[in-house]
Amino acid sequence: MSAEDIVSDAAGAISADRFVEISYDDVIPNNVGLGSDKQLQRALEGWRPKYLDWWTGMGPVGFQQSEVYLRTAVGVDPAGWAKFGYVKMPTYRWGILLAPKVEGRTIPFGRHKGEPAWQEVPGEHRALLRRLIVVQGDTEPASVEQQRHLGATAPSLYDMRNLFQVNVEEGRHLWAMVYLLVKYFGKDGREEAQALLERQSGQINNPRILGAFNESTSDWLSFFMFTFFTDRDGKMQLAALAESGFDPLSRTCRFMLTEEAHHMFVGETGVQRTIEATCAAMVKAGIKDPHDVEAVRKLGVVDLPLLQRKLNFHASVTRDLFGSEISSNAAEVFGAGIKGRFNEANLKSDDHVLQEATYPVTRVVDGKLVAEEAPALRALNSRLLDDFIVDCQGGIDRWNKAVEKAGVDFKFVQPHKGFNRRIGEFGGKHISLSGDLLTEEEWSAKSGAWLPNDGDMAFIRSLMKPCHEPGQYASWIAPPRIGVNNQAGDFEYVKIA
Ligand SMILES: [Fe+2]
Ligand SMILES: [Fe+2]
Repeated sequence: MSAEDIVSDAAGAISADRFVEISYDDVIPNNVGLGSDKQLQRALEGWRPKYLDWWTGMGPVGFQQSEVYLRTAVGVDPAGWAKFGYVKMPTYRWGILLAPKVEGRTIPFGRHKGEPAWQEVPGEHRALLRRLIVVQGDTEPASVEQQRHLGATAPSLYDMRNLFQVNVEEGRHLWAMVYLLVKYFGKDGREEAQALLERQSGQINNPRILGAFNESTSDWLSFFMFTFFTDRDGKMQLAALAESGFDPLSRTCRFMLTEEAHHMFVGETGVQRTIEATCAAMVKAGIKDPHDVEAVRKLGVVDLPLLQRKLNFHASVTRDLFGSEISSNAAEVFGAGIKGRFNEANLKSDDHVLQEATYPVTRVVDGKLVAEEAPALRALNSRLLDDFIVDCQGGIDRWNKAVEKAGVDFKFVQPHKGFNRRIGEFGGKHISLSGDLLTEEEWSAKSGAWLPNDGDMAFIRSLMKPCHEPGQYASWIAPPRIGVNNQAGDFEYVKIA
């Protein structure tokens, strides 16, 4: 079973199975009956040219006129929701797609548990809901901005196509959030929709909301790590929002999860193919020691210890996105029925209200790391982070299998939860890879070996030479096992114009 299967299974499990046709006649393809809501239609058609301006100004650089073999959503049936074909990115049909309505759905958690799911915004929770939608929405265009220069150094047309697929779908995710804002939040919603196009990743005056979305993704290894770790944060957040008592948000997120699975597939297999190229080159050259970095780098592949340092960096930066482990805000959105836990509706043996429940949270107390039972309601971020770490491990295990299969003696591990954190319980503390609390001096002496250094990044940059011939791959990455939509190995995924 591929990673993509596994993740789509997770998404499929919470999708309804009814097929809903999308109206492609409308300017904005949709399955929300846009044509019968003239006011909404006008508002979105007014936003569309601004979105297209943003896409051409801040989206992928250099390939806007190229024909790209992309999938476009044509339905919301998990078994067959997309069609493939050549598209110039600015003409991509960004649509508004909601998973089918589940008749009789009730709010699965919080103090409104068991009440019918809301079809309109509950007045008392309006501000909280709007904020959550804006924060989620802000990450979508941010990642497109972060990745905009990568096309020029794509290690193959296959990878270039995957990058652009991720980009157009993040664009669609922005549409999904903007639909909710414009339809359900009146004037403030329209203003927020506008602001989503105005903030810019990495800009000093008006940056994106969350820290990790202001770093640029300047090389392909970072892109693969980002889609493995950071898009997976997206998956966890979307899954928690898919449980929402606000039904339109739930349905929107359920469909987004279907697309998100592919983004993590791109990340996982991208890193795995990098590992495969490294191991194959080492075996061929008779290099036994994976720490013989100089010899390995001479082969034009990425040494495994450097991949581990990249893993350490992206894992820790992404973990900060979960927010403070102990959070009264998280308790509030859960209690209000707005954001559930990962897999909430399927969690057995608890009451989904959590008034009395506790959850073990690792904290720093008197210079030691201890597991403390905290009120479960206030520990929801901590729990979602733990679920995320478990979810990451599946992919890392598959990377280790690839190393083992090649007969190389190396094992990738996740850093301790507290390693290199800026936010939450471990923010500002110095915690080693294996979870020892260090002094500042010890950290300064040792952390250089745990995180990518300038030399590492310069080496990675030196490998980022474009490889744009059909069927050809850069030295540092192995070809994929199967093509997109089962296309042959020499398929021209992007017709570069
Ligand atoms: Fe997304
Ligand atoms: Fe994504």
